[in-house]
Amino acid sequence: MADESYFVVRGRVEPGDQRGRELGFPTANIALRDQRGELGDGVWAGWVERPDGTRVAAAVSVGRRPTYYGADGYRLVEAFLLDFAGDLYGESLTVWLGRHLREQKAYGSAEELIEALARDVETTRGWVAEHPAATLPSLSAPPPDGEVLRVG
Ligand SMILES: Cc1cc2nc3c(=O)[nH]c(=O)nc-3n(C[C@H](O)[C@H](O)[C@H](O)COP(=O)(O)O)c2cc1C
Repeated sequence: MADESYFVVRGRVEPGDQRGRELGFPTANIALRDQRGELGDGVWAGWVERPDGTRVAAAVSVGRRPTYYGADGYRLVEAFLLDFAGDLYGESLTVWLGRHLREQKAYGSAEELIEALARDVETTRGWVAEHPAATLPSLSAPPPDGEVLRVG
């Protein structure tokens, strides 16, 4: 819808720690060039666009993985693609962040983090149902790798 605004981030998928697979939520990791910027840390519902133009719903984390790295980690974007199985390494993805769901949190255990991720995915399903991929505003130009654009 035209009255929705989005943050858009673009970048190449980099190898992560592989921990996401163990948790049951493998993520596509994208480096953020701008470590401060107007896009704050948090968890978002959004869409990921692949180089072939297909769009996949995603629950997206922006932050430093405080459960594992305290406040010292570097900031990155991590997208968990819903109902997707496949290898994204090396692909340049465009990530649309549509709704801010919650802040980043340092969880006491992997189990608590997994429960939170499951809730994020359910909330994301509701959001994407109301905001289909076809309603995303078009980009005049994609942002440079690792940089954040505000659209809509
Ligand atoms: C939707 C979503 C929400 C997340 N929320 C948090 C969070 O609140 N706290 C946190 O420490 N990590 C959070 N993460 C990041 C996970 O810690 C991270 O994906 C996991 O450690 C796997 O890292 P890896 O991809 O480098 O293997 C989140 C990830 C996703 C996809």
